[in-house]
Amino acid sequence: MNEKVPKGRTKNASRHEEEKESNEMKIRTCPVFKRLSLSDISDPSSPMSVMDDLSNSFTSQKLRVFTLSELRVITHNFSRSNMLGEGGFGPVYKGFIDDKVKPGLEAQPVAVKALDLHGHQGHREWLAEIIFLGQLSNENLVKLIGFCCEEEQRVLVYEYMPRGSLENQLFRRNSVAMAWGIRMKIALGAARGLAFLHEAEKPVIYRDFKTSNILLDSNYNARLSDFGLAKDGPEGEHTHVTTRVMGTQGYAAPEYIMTGHLTTMNDVYSFGVVLLELITGKRSMDSTRARKEQSLVEWVRPMLRDQRKLGRIIDPRLECQYKTEAAQTAVALALKCLSQNPKYRPTMCEVVKVLESIQEVETRERNGNKEANKFFDTKKCRHYRKGKRHVNIAYSDSLLYKDSKTKQSNGI
Ligand SMILES: Nc1ncnc2c1ncn2[C@@H]1O[C@H](COP(=O)(O)OP(=O)(O)OP(=O)(O)O)[C@@H](O)[C@H]1O
Ligand SMILES: [Mg+2]
Repeated sequence: MNEKVPKGRTKNASRHEEEKESNEMKIRTCPVFKRLSLSDISDPSSPMSVMDDLSNSFTSQKLRVFTLSELRVITHNFSRSNMLGEGGFGPVYKGFIDDKVKPGLEAQPVAVKALDLHGHQGHREWLAEIIFLGQLSNENLVKLIGFCCEEEQRVLVYEYMPRGSLENQLFRRNSVAMAWGIRMKIALGAARGLAFLHEAEKPVIYRDFKTSNILLDSNYNARLSDFGLAKDGPEGEHTHVTTRVMGTQGYAAPEYIMTGHLTTMNDVYSFGVVLLELITGKRSMDSTRARKEQSLVEWVRPMLRDQRKLGRIIDPRLECQYKTEAAQTAVALALKCLSQNPKYRPTMCEVVKVLESIQEVETRERNGNKEANKFFDTKKCRHYRKGKRHVNIAYSDSLLYKDSKTKQSNGI
């Protein structure tokens, strides 16, 4: 039988190209698993329906469904002594899971977040968390292990983050001040988390970026938690999503508060606020401060433009143990993220690049100079030394530079 060979092709070449075409067809016809949205869930009130729908999703993690009685065992009956904290959703308890609780479960500590039935949040926030965290997986997002839905009760089970939230680490009274290097490492990790969300095939706007939603592992790797307010970004021709204004005072972008128009640039503004909190060691809103100083952004913004005022802005507890150039770059970055006009804000990918460059410079400096003292700018710090109480800084060479392996895993 004569094989039809198109003009200009040899028989072998033709077979090869046919194979290639057929492979391409296979790829093209392979079902595309799209990330599901809240509106795609057929029966949102049923955990089984949620699981069924999620199991068809490409990146779906293996979420586990827990019963309330299993969670009671895990948390010692939701005892107060196991409580890690409490937010708008409800109390969070520490627990421990292993394969005695459920076959196949890896032994590990967990954080169990239970809905406060008298609170403002409910099924919608619980479901949003499952829909987003059940499908998105990245080293800078907290891992959701499973959930529980029994009658009115809604519970979420996460991996346990040993250093808790950035809010607790940065602002807890009588705590040891966090070193500059650790602060920048956390900023970079959190920025990577946001960049991952914004750059996803179907972008996600996080909408609740703040220090209490940045959780820390034992090496200060940052992971974003709380997707209850997250939203799918605009699709197609649309430039924004219109929503009811929600979020936390002190972090939301001005144009979002004014119009309800949601874009990824709103998250960039919130990132600028958190970066400013890391730089200054001050909360974004504090009603105990003098009236003019209550909003950190409004108070500090005029000073951000003046490099001579750097010393006044940066957290005095750091006792000048940071590189001036690095601090200047971080301050300039915060200022850009906080631009009133969202057009002038950088994308999160650009933010990541700047923070990576800060880390590279600092790593080079440190590697060339192991003595922490040379990191200390004595001229800059004259006024701190005069009669100021010495503040301990959580700047531990052993923590950040134990050996070359740790150095790599810390990303520093
Ligand atoms: N996975 C986790 N590992 C360790 N601790 C956690 C974990 N999740 C939450 N926590 C602790 O529980 C506290 C409460 O968290 P939650 O997210 O419920 O509220 P919040 O962030 O403080 O407030 P909001 O409701 O405004 O988000 C956190 O500050 C943190 O200390
Ligand atoms: Mg939270």
